[in-house]
Amino acid sequence: MSLYQKIRPVLFKLDPERAHSLVKAVLHKLPDIPFADDLLLKISGGYKSDKLKTDFYNPVGLAAGFDKDGEMTKALCALGFGFLELGTITKIPQAGNPKPRLFRHIDEQSLQNEMGFNNCGSKEFSLNIQKHYPFSIPIGVNIGKNKDVQIKDSLYNYEDALKDVLKVGDYYVFNLSSPNTPKLRDLQNEKFVKELFEMAKKHTKKPVFLKIAPDIEIDKMLKVCDSALSSGASGIVATNTTVDYTLVASPRNGGISGEVLKQKSLEILSELTKAFFGRGVIMSVGGISSARDVYERMQMGASLVQVYTAFIYEGPTLCSTINKELEIFLKADGFSNIGEAVGVALGKMKGKKKYEKFQEKDKKEDKEDKKKKGKKDKKEDKEESKEQKESSKSPATRARTTTRTRTARTTTTRRTTTRRASTKSTANKPAQ
Ligand SMILES: Cc1cc2nc3c(=O)[nH]c(=O)nc-3n(C[C@H](O)[C@H](O)[C@H](O)COP(=O)(O)O)c2cc1C
Repeated sequence: MSLYQKIRPVLFKLDPERAHSLVKAVLHKLPDIPFADDLLLKISGGYKSDKLKTDFYNPVGLAAGFDKDGEMTKALCALGFGFLELGTITKIPQAGNPKPRLFRHIDEQSLQNEMGFNNCGSKEFSLNIQKHYPFSIPIGVNIGKNKDVQIKDSLYNYEDALKDVLKVGDYYVFNLSSPNTPKLRDLQNEKFVKELFEMAKKHTKKPVFLKIAPDIEIDKMLKVCDSALSSGASGIVATNTTVDYTLVASPRNGGISGEVLKQKSLEILSELTKAFFGRGVIMSVGGISSARDVYERMQMGASLVQVYTAFIYEGPTLCSTINKELEIFLKADGFSNIGEAVGVALGKMKGKKKYEKFQEKDKKEDKEDKKKKGKKDKKEDKEESKEQKESSKSPATRARTTTRTRTARTTTTRRTTTRRASTKSTANKPAQ
């Protein structure tokens, strides 16, 4: 029995939001404690795999809603996630809905929440992130609409929030699918989605995703996603929580997540990958709790997956357990890396051919990148030899030169990380 399994009954005796606040307080403080990262890595099993090494360390990310204000990010990086999606943030800080607004359905291994985008606002969020920037894994920022902003002004509200976080994300997600902001889901229409992604293109070249609800009619969902992809979206995050209250025995208010969402999330994924595999990155989320789930979603064509509710039920070792088992599945099926398994269930040859096509495209783009990097390296070498020459100068002059060189290197590293989150590199890039 893991440590978390032992303390879970105590945590679960608390009101769910109080338990979350307690965990938040611990994870917020941890980075200030010496060797805390090592401790966390130990707890999580310290997952790192060469075999699974796509451009992400591993394909299992943390879904939006857990770290809304970017206050636990540093500690969460050490728990074995391949990436983190933070937020939802909104332009103006919001208190969210009145409490209680988070409920457990323990028998169904599910949660229900009507949080209502409680968050510190995009400006403060950005400052929180910058305190620990850059991170060891890619960071996604999930953006929502303020409750008090009228539907007709939504585009500007999303735009203003996006502008505040342009420096701190490796990818962005427009959330039009929370059930807890009145009329938000009405924005899941082709016209608005087109305007939204065309607006985003003006501000960033980083990947931008659309997060959709599981309760939308399939035809409509496909049209909305098509509109997003045609207007510059890199992919789709599917899905948010459901408002199908028949799924749990004693429903409360708000969106339901976890085990009971699994079937719906799978159905949506299947439709999405049939329609868009190869055209956009699909991140699957909803009821994922095991390596078997992850493997199934990826074979169905998801390039990445996310977890939330299972993290609450299973605790900090969830990711390392999943990733270790995932490696066993890959080995048993003769895949040398996770990229090879993506989409194979869509039809073995079809998936394989598509995969090879992407590999060729990847190789071409890598060559171009290497060329560009070569030029950049030469420039940095020049700066370094200049730095050596300057070493005979005063210490203050030396410090200034070194800082400049370091900044140049950091920028290069950040760009590389950003590329990691890009459509082609996440979708099908094979292990190195
Ligand atoms: C307490 C809670 C808060 C959430 N907050 C957000 C949010 O702010 N933004 C968002 O896009 N999704 C939010 N979600 C939805 C999750 O990101 C995820 O899409 C959903 O829970 C399904 O995944 P799961 O079954 O693994 O939990 C929240 C979920 C929970 C349980």
